Amino acid sequence: MKTLGLLLVIALALAGSLAVDRNNFKTCEQSGFCKRLRALKPEKSQYSLNLDTVIVHGNVLTAEVNTVDTETEKRIVLWNYALKLSALVDGTFRVELDEADPLYPRYRTMLALDGEPKADGLKLVSNEKGVVTVANSQGHKVLITAEPLRLEFLDLDGQLAVLLNGNSQLVVEPLKVKEEGEEGDDNEGARGENFKSHHDSKPRGNEAVSLDVSFPEADHVYGIPEHTDKFSLRTTTAGEPYRLYNLDVFEYELDSRMAIYGAIPVMYAHSAKRTTGVFWHNSAETWVDVVNHAEGNVVSSLVNLVTGGQKKQVDARFMSESGIVDVFVFLGSRPKDVFRQFTRLTGVAPVPPKFSLAYHQSRWNYNDENDVRSVSENFDAHDIPADVLWLDIEYTDRKKYFTWDAEKFPNPLEMVANLSAVGRKLVVIIDPHIKREAGYFLHEDATDNGYYVQDKDGKVYEGWCWPGSSSYLDFFDPRVSKYYAERYLFENFPGTTKDVHHWNDMNEPSVFNGPEITMPKDCRHYKPPQDGHDGLASFWEHRHVHNEYGLWNIRATQQGMLDRASGQYRPFILTRSAFAGTQRYAAVWTGDNAAEWGFLAVSVPMCISMAAAGISFCGSDVGGFFKYPEAELMTRWYQAGAYQPFFRAHSHIETKRREPWLYEPATTALLRDALRRRYALIDYWYTLFYEHSLDGLPVMRPLFQEFPEEEDTFTIDDHYLLGEELLIRPVVEPGVSSVRVYLPGKGAGALWYDVDSYQPHAANGYFTQDVNIAKIPVYQRGGTIIPRKERVRRSSALMANDPYTFVVALDADNKAHGSLYIDDGETYDHKNNKYIYAHIDYEPSGITYSFVNENASYPTRSWVERIVIAGIQAPPKTAKLVQGDKQTALQMTLHKGNDVLVVRKPGASMAQPWKIVFSY
Ligand code: NOJ
Repeated sequence: MKTLGLLLVIALALAGSLAVDRNNFKTCEQSGFCKRLRALKPEKSQYSLNLDTVIVHGNVLTAEVNTVDTETEKRIVLWNYALKLSALVDGTFRVELDEADPLYPRYRTMLALDGEPKADGLKLVSNEKGVVTVANSQGHKVLITAEPLRLEFLDLDGQLAVLLNGNSQLVVEPLKVKEEGEEGDDNEGARGENFKSHHDSKPRGNEAVSLDVSFPEADHVYGIPEHTDKFSLRTTTAGEPYRLYNLDVFEYELDSRMAIYGAIPVMYAHSAKRTTGVFWHNSAETWVDVVNHAEGNVVSSLVNLVTGGQKKQVDARFMSESGIVDVFVFLGSRPKDVFRQFTRLTGVAPVPPKFSLAYHQSRWNYNDENDVRSVSENFDAHDIPADVLWLDIEYTDRKKYFTWDAEKFPNPLEMVANLSAVGRKLVVIIDPHIKREAGYFLHEDATDNGYYVQDKDGKVYEGWCWPGSSSYLDFFDPRVSKYYAERYLFENFPGTTKDVHHWNDMNEPSVFNGPEITMPKDCRHYKPPQDGHDGLASFWEHRHVHNEYGLWNIRATQQGMLDRASGQYRPFILTRSAFAGTQRYAAVWTGDNAAEWGFLAVSVPMCISMAAAGISFCGSDVGGFFKYPEAELMTRWYQAGAYQPFFRAHSHIETKRREPWLYEPATTALLRDALRRRYALIDYWYTLFYEHSLDGLPVMRPLFQEFPEEEDTFTIDDHYLLGEELLIRPVVEPGVSSVRVYLPGKGAGALWYDVDSYQPHAANGYFTQDVNIAKIPVYQRGGTIIPRKERVRRSSALMANDPYTFVVALDADNKAHGSLYIDDGETYDHKNNKYIYAHIDYEPSGITYSFVNENASYPTRSWVERIVIAGIQAPPKTAKLVQGDKQTALQMTLHKGNDVLVVRKPGASMAQPWKIVFSY
């Protein structure tokens, strides 16, 4: 019945225009704690610091905080809290506020951090006149005012950079014993809430937390993905707050602050002067209000009325349903610093297997082994490169994961071997819901061993998902994560090899008949045994952990994929739900979009926002998931996708097939061209991801990251940079013959070279770029060098030993620098110094290729085929290659109005350093 209904909805949607069913999802008013907290606007904070209890020890300040009754004259203490302020390395502070003696332990998010944050020094500067001042080893000061409690974080010039509780919205609702007759079933009910037909029993009562954060002098705030809104966040006063709650939103809408699949509670504030940020370390449902005081439509605050002017400040307020107040403050002071400060805490993406940066061909579904073979062969027949074919849920035996449909996929090993033979891989989907079917080993094991999430009464929770009646593995139990990881071993999942990788979908988790299409908040998860481990203290509720459920899922998957190959091969995992730290395990995509121009356009700000929140490996379903993309949209999507980190075409089961060769030949040619551009840059992508693994910076970056003082860049989110080198402005509008492109760096005299013509443009803000259907506006920054591989083959693996072309784009000083990372592309041998990380430096006197780590090497058979030098003013007369003790004279040719010099066939091996010496 249920499936029929769902299919009907899907069919209707596919026929007509798409629209989310908002009724399925809560507004702030319908979410008890959000309504409760948002209405709370005290003039003065009830929280105050007990100055006599302040202790500074090591990198930590601890003190008691009390709520006091402000109604009465007498100072009556209502509740006690424990405050902890820690100084961490790299200009970061952490503030934790928990109840001093909670009725039960409150949940502390477990998996977002990549280990214990590293401590910095902290010293007490003073404790006088009701203000405690401490400083970290860099000299950042924190001023804690006792009454009412507020925390001021100063930059190195002693100016206020971040303020906590300046708007008195700090709240930690204490856990209380349930009182006689205390039931309540309205929205604010302390012991129960209803939404549609769902009842949430809230056994612990209200336990919300909230805190306001002010960013003085900030122009904009960014972050808190995943939303379909602009990258620069908007004032929420007149509408809904931004919501962070991992949800499977069918036909999600554009320009919305509604929650969708991912929830990463990190926010950055930026102005030309400084960049700061906060990470709200909480995995419960969270809503975030933003007030940008410089925005015209903001109702002036009291301060504005008094000063008569518009102050430059952004205020934000985080509200979570449970947990503790645990917030990291990043003092920047530049965009790169804050992005790094965040990944320093939550980790970086490890170097991905190289194939995963190439092109992925997916569809719900490739029907059988013949279909897979024919799709793979068609790529070859049409001379189109592809690295990965994907199988969606229909490959399984009736949605029982870790099994194959024996009729359609009788010989998976042979199918995989055929793909491997041409350097291709297979990705198969594994969802976290488990079909409740007698005889299904996974269901039986889970039932026998108590591996499932429990309902509010401690019975196995049953929900509805693709297989029909399903239960959900409780990855929080280490036994379950271990068991699940073992399912990925080759012997436990016959038909898989090292060339089979995995896709964890529906892991918000999606529950078709659950409240808001997810798991009821009063479901029970495993909690490690500890003191007083009984009653409500013996489990975590789903409400506490919801936003990190998917993280536990992909962590176990990664463990299993490492174990299956004795830790030798790098796994590739795609996840739909995302939380802080997801980058350590998986790539993400933006879920079920549609073949509409708006969804193509929004893929850019969505992925920039993800990248700023640590997850650089992001992309959208190329072509759109729902509906059918006509030729122009399809072309523009491939062109955009070719320059986004995760590049996969995917489509809904009910849509018309759309592999690249199914379009008119002219369109197929354009798709081929876009794909070839991606493959030519595969080593550049690989180098960018290697560098991300070192410095934690976004691969796909907002313009203001590199040009933090250029105000026009602050709101540009339809352009972005790849590394420092390329600026991309994909065409995301139909029927246009030109687009406006912004080239930043005017003050710095930057040059940008059109990658198609090598024509230099002096940075001068906006200019009009003509675009025919073949044009992708991409510009290489003057002063950079990019490695290319021009001989595009069937798959990236087959290009491993191909020669390089280096494109040198000179800056105004006739210099340029680049880097290149080479390893075997799939193992962990790079951890044992089997890699090359090289710098390439161009000076008028010559070009040097040198190893950054001289102890590392890799026996690559690649060599240098060509060096293209764009923007050359005075070309050298002769060039000679010096490698080892060999010297070779080189040929050069001058092109295009004599400003492009090509050094032909240098032939230098990339396995050893080399030098090209010019003479004039
Ligand atoms: C939902 C995913 O978002 C989509 O990409 C996938 O095709 C379907 N689940 C079926 O597995």
